[in-house]
Amino acid sequence: MEHISIRNICKQYGQGESSVKALDNVSLEITKGEVCVILGPSGSGKSTLLNMIGGLDRVDSGTITVDGLEITSLNKKQLTDYRREKLGMVFQAYNLIPELNVIENVKVVKDIAKNPIDENELLSVLGLDKHKTHFPSELSGGQQQRCSIARALVKNPALLLCDELTGALDSASSRDVLSFLEKINEHYDTTIVMITHDERIAGMADRLIRIKDGKVVENTLKKRLKVGELGI
Ligand SMILES: Nc1ncnc2c1ncn2[C@@H]1O[C@H](COP(=O)(O)OP(=O)(O)OP(=O)(O)O)[C@@H](O)[C@H]1O
Ligand SMILES: [Mg+2]
Repeated sequence: MEHISIRNICKQYGQGESSVKALDNVSLEITKGEVCVILGPSGSGKSTLLNMIGGLDRVDSGTITVDGLEITSLNKKQLTDYRREKLGMVFQAYNLIPELNVIENVKVVKDIAKNPIDENELLSVLGLDKHKTHFPSELSGGQQQRCSIARALVKNPALLLCDELTGALDSASSRDVLSFLEKINEHYDTTIVMITHDERIAGMADRLIRIKDGKVVENTLKKRLKVGELGI
């Protein structure tokens, strides 16, 4: 089943000479249950693309359809519903709520979910057992990132969007987190779209997308490797 269908999307930031074509006529199909890895140089448009799929920013032209729902034509309220019902998102900046501790940050999302995963199990897998009552300001970068991963996963979303998921993690934690995603994907058929700078992570993809200057320059379907085989 086709899960995400992106047709001819364009996005330009700014006006005149200082304007940037962040996305230049991007088209892409992602199948339900696929692990899709997006690679590309800094500034090539990866986060912009993910934000568009996540309904966080508006395209200038083109359409994005998720599960038959054309999200590019939804209003603000409908977009909020879409995000709440279908999406888990891990951002490049972790976006934790500073006034809430780890378990509270995760529970705000769990409380509005239909089929949530147990938050204690999730925090344990992510190595945050001892930090449940700590506030974001008391956590290291990697711990904040793992908390944001727990928050994205706790509602057991149909679609998981991750921007530099393992960017702040050491090898062992990266492996743990990626193995967990692999398990979630196999168990729940979660579609995962993941941006990374790490070519090794591309090994676990069913679909490999390369972006350069706002354009898709490679779109390859391949056999995926197990996380244990990635050499991380
Ligand atoms: N809100 C914005 N206003 C103006 N320009 C923007 C904005 N967001 C992104 N850009 C520009 O659009 C281009 C694509 O940015 P984007 O964040 O998508 O890159 P990226 O591939 O995610 O890079 P990185 O790997 O460094 O995170 C860049 O040239 C960036 O400067
Ligand atoms: Mg980015």
